[in-house]
Amino acid sequence: MRTIEWRDGSVITLDQTLLPEEEVWIEMRSCLEVAEAIREMRIRGAPLIGVAAAYGLALTAYHSRAKNRDDFLGEIEQSANLLKGTRPTAVNLFWAIERIIKKVRSSEGDVETLKKLIIEEAKRIAEEDIAVNRKIGEYGSKLISEGDTILTHCNAGRLATVDYGTALAAVRVAWEEGKRIKVIATETRPLLQGARLTVYELMRDGIPVTLITDNMVGYIMLKGLVDKVFVGADRIVRDAVINKIGTYNIAVLAHEHNIPFYVAAPLSTFNLNATSKDVIIEERKPEEVTHIRSIRIAPHGVSVLNPAFDITPIKYVNAIICEMGILSRDDLQKITKEK
Ligand code: MRU
Repeated sequence: MRTIEWRDGSVITLDQTLLPEEEVWIEMRSCLEVAEAIREMRIRGAPLIGVAAAYGLALTAYHSRAKNRDDFLGEIEQSANLLKGTRPTAVNLFWAIERIIKKVRSSEGDVETLKKLIIEEAKRIAEEDIAVNRKIGEYGSKLISEGDTILTHCNAGRLATVDYGTALAAVRVAWEEGKRIKVIATETRPLLQGARLTVYELMRDGIPVTLITDNMVGYIMLKGLVDKVFVGADRIVRDAVINKIGTYNIAVLAHEHNIPFYVAAPLSTFNLNATSKDVIIEERKPEEVTHIRSIRIAPHGVSVLNPAFDITPIKYVNAIICEMGILSRDDLQKITKEK
């Protein structure tokens, strides 16, 4: 199952806000619609946001009526700015946009040539995502043993990527290799990506999964019910991993209980010339906290904090799994120095 697809002049994707009750595929015909879908989280997850942004630029290119290179580049830049304003934390969004802009700026050729180039590059970004995730899965599976129970947070699965996932790619490969493993998924308030999406996709694949609320993590670790933690990332900076709110709590608890804490993410999520101080943590609307889906659970007028991501200091991360292999904290420092 692919989560997003280019169909000459339109982009098809699964509306993730309606899962798991309804599987509704939406068709987007403009970059504006793609930006809206990212903002409203119909499309979400760092790698998928990157791919969607690339397709957003491809839609602008495909439908452009610009007669000359300058006008065309102006339209692409405008779309790039629109997309950059959707969500600030996952670096894959900016990475994909920059990759396309760089490519098109450095290419000669008329409008038709540039159009083709952007569409091809967007498709390439999508295909690469699948290949990279498969590699992450193969490396990640080496860290998983027969009988392990893996705790995961939010959704770093197929639905957060074009296919396969990152943290859940490791689980998938381990399962395909015949290891009898189990997953514990945290519900992931406020938007319940764990309950709605991780559980949905693992159950579809027949991988055993148990759902818990976020505040049960300490208790089940104390009881010895978790062997390893695997999460994804929205941005990996020099000193920290930025991921869904609640990741930091889990990392500290894992450390306290001597449980390995692994982060699985493609290189497009790495932002090693930055530190956690440079990252904008997205603040989302209060209704996501005062309501569960459309049901109000808090009194009117209550003051609310709603940061969508948190910052896990690198000292809590046992290893980062990417398409290059399994990186230790020292490897990460080496890469940073080489930059
Ligand atoms: O707000 P979301 O649902 O886009 O947040 C997603 C996450 O935090 C994921 O863990 C992260 O993007 C990694 S996905 C492979």
